[in-house]
Amino acid sequence: MGEIDEAFIQSIEHRPKSTTVDAQGIPVIDLSALNSQHCSSNSSSSMEDLIVQVGEACKNWGFFQVINHGVPSSCREKVEVASRAFFRQPSEEKRKVRRDEANPMGFYDTEHTKNVRDWKQVFDFTVENPTVVPASHEPDDVRLQEIVNQWPDYPPNFRGACEEYTREIEKLAYKLLELISLSLGLPAEKLNGFFKNQTSFMRLNYYPVCPVPHLALGVGRHKDSGALTVLSQDDVGGLEVKRKTDGEWVLVRPTPNAYIINVGDVIQVWSNDKYESVEHRVMVNSERERFSIPFFFNPSHTVMVEPLKELTSKQNPARYKPYNWGKFHTTRNISNFKKLDVENIQIHHFRI
Ligand code: OGA
Ligand code: NI
Repeated sequence: MGEIDEAFIQSIEHRPKSTTVDAQGIPVIDLSALNSQHCSSNSSSSMEDLIVQVGEACKNWGFFQVINHGVPSSCREKVEVASRAFFRQPSEEKRKVRRDEANPMGFYDTEHTKNVRDWKQVFDFTVENPTVVPASHEPDDVRLQEIVNQWPDYPPNFRGACEEYTREIEKLAYKLLELISLSLGLPAEKLNGFFKNQTSFMRLNYYPVCPVPHLALGVGRHKDSGALTVLSQDDVGGLEVKRKTDGEWVLVRPTPNAYIINVGDVIQVWSNDKYESVEHRVMVNSERERFSIPFFFNPSHTVMVEPLKELTSKQNPARYKPYNWGKFHTTRNISNFKKLDVENIQIHHFRI
């Protein structure tokens, strides 16, 4: 067995455990009530029920799975097949579309989470093409930059499969956003405006077989910094969520055709900590490679993220100062390239 680059090695307290706990408790929520066209009294009570389930899941877990979500399985299969075909190629082919300092979209295989290298390869692309973001993380630099997707030549249907899938997942993301808004006692479309000129992106993750799965992680422990994540995982499993009740890492068992949803830091701030963004990580294994596809639903770069006025009061004052999403995200991205000596930017830096 060859030497493993020590950049991949997790410190002892962050290594995966040899026994895993099953997250039986992660709620599975049936979204069929959203698809029923007619407004019988029956369907309005099932809507109420659905909103309560979403609210409870966001509060108690920060994570849930959805079934009967309306995304056609053929569309998901197409992108899964395209992803496998892309990653199966030799590195020099994949590097033709690699990301760099100028363009953060495309292929890369050197991401670090909390300064430890992840055992994975990724391909990123944005929803809006081009996507407008700040040109730098410097607070006083008002210049903007347009991010343009890079697409590989192989497999030939890669771009089409990705774009078609993105449109379906975006629809689901808006449905979930509206349910979350309703569950907070707000009008359904209260949050939608923040996503005009969104900075959302899709990531194809490939976790190769790992000779040292007890020492490395596919993705180190982290919270998602955007609003909402809609994740498709294959049947291998490896995603672990930190249970709020006791801090135990629990495995999210793959449910065929389901999506895993988690609230990110932006919803934590909007909800003034009612819905907390929860830590999660990805284990790898020595027998099977794993594929997953998260969609990171992110607001426009111009959005100032702060607790919603409707959710704060004298008794429950805002717990965060406003911060600009574009600058926050740009600052966060720097650490994907370099090892930093300081802690990366976090929402708790804006705590009042
Ligand atoms: C992520 C993530 C989980 C997975 O990319 O932020 O948490 O199962 N991925 O790949
Ligand atoms: Ni994540």
